[in-house]
Amino acid sequence: MPFDRSIKIAPSILSADFANFGAEIRAIEGQGADWVHVDVMDGHFVPNLTFGPPAVKAFRPHVKTVMDVHLMIAPVDPYIEAYAEAGADILTAHVEAGPHSHRTLQAIRGAGMKAGVALNPGTPAEAVAHLLDLADLVCVMTVNPGFGGQKFLDMTGKVRALREMIGDREIHIEIDGGVDPTTAPQVAAAGADVLVAGSAVFKGGSVEAPEVYGRNIASIREAAESAR
Ligand code: DX5
Ligand code: ZN
Repeated sequence: MPFDRSIKIAPSILSADFANFGAEIRAIEGQGADWVHVDVMDGHFVPNLTFGPPAVKAFRPHVKTVMDVHLMIAPVDPYIEAYAEAGADILTAHVEAGPHSHRTLQAIRGAGMKAGVALNPGTPAEAVAHLLDLADLVCVMTVNPGFGGQKFLDMTGKVRALREMIGDREIHIEIDGGVDPTTAPQVAAAGADVLVAGSAVFKGGSVEAPEVYGRNIASIREAAESAR
């Protein structure tokens, strides 16, 4: 996985047809998705439940790009090995998920994956200042995690601060929540390179009409690129 700061669109399969994940993943990748974003929720860290390691393992053979797994669970550490076995390329844990994020990021890298750290809207950029040497990605939540289709929260100042803290380090800045062609430009201009989008990618399309996914992905990408 070579590093670059080009705009990458990562559709969240939280907005896909839950009875048809394989075909949905193939459809978004066929329509220009750069990464596939997989939202794991435990009904405890967030008030919603999705899927766990066996489901993620079943997605793996369908993902030809990058499987970007976002854990909204606590605790994280007991499950790291299971997500490595499931084939996650990037495993992101929330800094709010426990007191030992430093150890968690080390363990994720130790298990052979890229390590991401996510920040809830109420958490300042400084919370990850001493974790950056252990991180390959910082995910800035622009909604309170748990559900797709929520209203975008403006975190531009936080993204700018992180971009400055990161400097030359090879760390992606990912934005997650409420990303669409109207909100993508401001975060791209502030320094984000990975844009997660659920509803804005899947709306209006289906595996029978995948070209709609293609148009949705392209409009988010164009809006983001034109703001840089
Ligand atoms: C929210 C998830 C997001 C979500 C984004 O808890 O982490 O990845 O699916 O969905 P949209 O793009 O609909 O806000
Ligand atoms: Zn997510």
